[in-house]
Amino acid sequence: MIQFSDKDLTARVIRSFETMPDERLKFLLKETVTAVHDLVRRTNLTIAEWNQAITFLTRTGQTCTPLRQEFILLSDVLGISMLVDAVNQPEREGATETTVLGPFYVGEHRPTPHGADLSNGIEGTPMFVQSRVTNLAGVPLAGAEIDVWHADDNGFYDSQKPDYEQQGPSLRARLVADADGRFSFRTILPCSYPIPTDGPVGDLMAATGRHAMRPAHVHFLLRAEGHLPLITHVFLDGDEYLASDAVFGVKDELVARVELRTEPVLPTGEVISSPWHLLSYHFRMKPGAGAVPGPVMSLSE
Ligand code: BEZ
Ligand code: FE
Repeated sequence: MIQFSDKDLTARVIRSFETMPDERLKFLLKETVTAVHDLVRRTNLTIAEWNQAITFLTRTGQTCTPLRQEFILLSDVLGISMLVDAVNQPEREGATETTVLGPFYVGEHRPTPHGADLSNGIEGTPMFVQSRVTNLAGVPLAGAEIDVWHADDNGFYDSQKPDYEQQGPSLRARLVADADGRFSFRTILPCSYPIPTDGPVGDLMAATGRHAMRPAHVHFLLRAEGHLPLITHVFLDGDEYLASDAVFGVKDELVARVELRTEPVLPTGEVISSPWHLLSYHFRMKPGAGAVPGPVMSLSE
């Protein structure tokens, strides 16, 4: 006869992991079971509520496609992505701050020459980005690879558009820092935009009454030999959502002023007939090694 008792259930489940060869996985499972059992007890969770949670997570999985990652979005809006990043980056030591990767990194960035226009015909207010990558001592990191991506001025990434496969990438590229650690590109001014709200995470946001907006930003993923990969954004100063980002990703140091320029020529010498904006930012990378997360695309493999 097996005497069931919910009092010793947690201990029994944890004991069932005892022979696991992977100590780290054993530890994580034990902590997860302890935390979730505790949650069930503290909240007196009803069967209907647990079923609702399972339905929600099932829908979250079913919403994922090779180009859409609803679980990353869920992790982002609950602050889990920023927390995992924070516990893994305890001391920046002067290196540029990090923030979420987000669900729109597709890892297919085309190598692009300095000064190139990333807009691929997408209309918007012109913006020129000039930047430099150095180590903590200010030494240029020549050859550093920089992936950049951002939304258009309607708030959509190329990968969200139905014709993405045919049109190819826009507002997305890979640049390589020159001998002085510099790189630059022309693009359009990004705007604040809502995270996708047409799935279960959108329903969750609506239930909380929170808005779904992210302040305008450009994503950067930098890799340099002998340095920790740097995943970050540069946010545009003055955006109304800086203090209430839907994914809690803003850090003061990542907010940059965008200058309005009226001279009819870009830093590349290219003639331009309308006013344009200039965004300048200096990235500092920390010594070390680390893997860059795989792109969302890898889901289909
Ligand atoms: C983004 O900035 O691309 C993003 C980040 C987290 C959730 C949704 C979008
Ligand atoms: Fe973004």
